Amino acid sequence: MEEVSAEEAFDKFKPESCVFVISIDKHGKPNGMIAGWNMKCSSEPPMFAVALWKKGYTHRLIQQSKEFVIAVPNKELEKEVEFFGSKHGNEVDKFGETKIETAKAKFVKSPLIKNATINFECKLEKEIDSGDHVIFIGRILASYVNKNKKVLLNMRKAANKRIFEEF
Ligand SMILES: Cc1cc2nc3c(=O)[nH]c(=O)nc-3n(C[C@H](O)[C@H](O)[C@H](O)COP(=O)(O)O)c2cc1C
Repeated sequence: MEEVSAEEAFDKFKPESCVFVISIDKHGKPNGMIAGWNMKCSSEPPMFAVALWKKGYTHRLIQQSKEFVIAVPNKELEKEVEFFGSKHGNEVDKFGETKIETAKAKFVKSPLIKNATINFECKLEKEIDSGDHVIFIGRILASYVNKNKKVLLNMRKAANKRIFEEF
């Protein structure tokens, strides 16, 4: 066994699922980002948590709007995962640029992603400061599944490129 930095050990901790975290600004304009640091964290009531970097735009939007949508991608959405996970919503209109298909949510204003494998509508229940990230815990108000679709996993990096596979 070899002692390494936490960062290097985190990097080895793969495969890792990744989810879109979708929120809206004060005018109702949607933005999305990708979070690999995500988990289910209660079944009754159903809750889902994501750890978001404090300097990201989504962090600010969820603090304002107190809601978000979690959308779990599949291979069809791999390009959008790279795009949403590398651009900032205060600089780029990610929904407009990718023309990713959305669907209306029932209980929140943030949109669902129509072709995602799973969508959760969440109301912000709690936020916990965890260092350079904040953990947002959302109460799931509605869940949707595209039953014939699979889930995208971030497997590893090769030549500085992320390798995704479906499971
Ligand atoms: C596979 C993948 C996983 C990521 N995981 C996280 C994460 O868990 N938390 C986070 O804050 N950013 C994560 N990011 C980075 C954000 O998605 C990225 O900084 C994004 O541009 C933020 O967008 P925003 O500024 O519009 O919120 C991840 C990116 C990728 C591609």
